Amino acid sequence: MEITRREFLNLTAGAVAFAMFPNFAVGGKKMQTVIKNVQVLKPSGEVVTSNIFIDGDKISKIDNSNFDAKNFTVIDGRGKFAVPGFINAHTHASMTLLRSYADDLALMDWLNNHIWPIENKMNRKDIRIGAELAAVEMIKSGTTTFMDMYGPNMEEVAQVVEKSGMRGVLCRGLIGIFDGDEKLATNVELFKNWNGKANGRIKVMFGPHAIYTCPPAYLKKVAETAGSLGAEIHIHMNETLDEINGCMKDYGKHPFEVVEETGLFDLGTLAAHCVHLSDNEIEIIKNKKIRVAHNPGSNMKLASGIAPVPKLLREGVVVGLGTDGASSNNNLDMLEEMRLAALLHKVDTLNPLEIPAFEAVKMATEYGAAAVGIENIGKLEAGFKADIILFDMSGADWQPCYNPVSLMVYSANSSSVDTVIVDGKILMQNRELKTLDEEKIIAEFKSRADKLTGK
Ligand code: NI
Repeated sequence: MEITRREFLNLTAGAVAFAMFPNFAVGGKKMQTVIKNVQVLKPSGEVVTSNIFIDGDKISKIDNSNFDAKNFTVIDGRGKFAVPGFINAHTHASMTLLRSYADDLALMDWLNNHIWPIENKMNRKDIRIGAELAAVEMIKSGTTTFMDMYGPNMEEVAQVVEKSGMRGVLCRGLIGIFDGDEKLATNVELFKNWNGKANGRIKVMFGPHAIYTCPPAYLKKVAETAGSLGAEIHIHMNETLDEINGCMKDYGKHPFEVVEETGLFDLGTLAAHCVHLSDNEIEIIKNKKIRVAHNPGSNMKLASGIAPVPKLLREGVVVGLGTDGASSNNNLDMLEEMRLAALLHKVDTLNPLEIPAFEAVKMATEYGAAAVGIENIGKLEAGFKADIILFDMSGADWQPCYNPVSLMVYSANSSSVDTVIVDGKILMQNRELKTLDEEKIIAEFKSRADKLTGK
């Protein structure tokens, strides 16, 4: 075959380009990354030393096959433990602004007299900086996905998700007793403008706050609106005994029974808390495939009670883990939440076999993914999204290393999270944030919080 001079030049140029930039995408970035010689937590709970290959936003394979280092961005995984990024299944990110503002109070006193009056004063910039500080805290403690419910200006939170590189499931908190229709309209706007955005890292749901702030007629309206868009629901359910008693008094039924009649549960629901449940309510949860977000830290701090998590898990209910807002926890640290879940249910049942370490990890990862309704995150497996965190196991809290899963849940500090990858992109390496300016955010956050609370 004869090659023209022009073809020859093209071929030569191509060969030169390939030699210089193998596997380079537009803009000079390598598309493939490998984390080599890392201890990997497999979905089975087994820990193996292997390489994790990342192609674009996905894990392409996890094995010990050879690779040509010049084609990859190589991350040295020696002395590191790779686990799926944590999924915070229930929080209110911008509530960081009210952290330590009002503590050691009962839920309704805390909400009515301390939290809601200040929240009513929050403007767009407050929501933004509150979420930015939350993102700093979450990334630095290994959270890659968070389920957020808050007030107006949720599009600011969406922008923080986009900028930070995290994954966010967002909903407008709908308190239906005041300006319910207006709030519902903003949730619709949020859905239309942001669902599926940021390379699919943003998902929007609808957020009716709770039965005590949303009468059944309003819940029906939310169900119709969200249903017409194919959106799912996030709601607080059965958090305190006061809530149950109030519902019994108002409607003569338990909260799940009242809400079931509104059609809300037919859309796919994530219910936060579920602390006090009757047997019939557990049946409703199973029948409607309602997913639960367990918040042990918040439930303990507000003395709400202990959710029947071991029972729910045995019944096949999906239970994820959440921190709740930073003013009722008071941090956004999922490692602490795993530890609290594992410890709380042992002491509650006087059974040290309840919620073993790996079950707590699954609640923060695999079950968390199911809880927030995202299919391909929560596991380190080929084909899953590359949402990966690496713990540095060189510190005192990781010695001696007989069981990395147990060490992570019962011993490790979240400050040993070294590297955070979401959608194949590095958000933190060697504890240095790549997408957010931590120092600047903390400085602005402090001045905004002080102005807001008048302290
Ligand atoms: Ni909450």
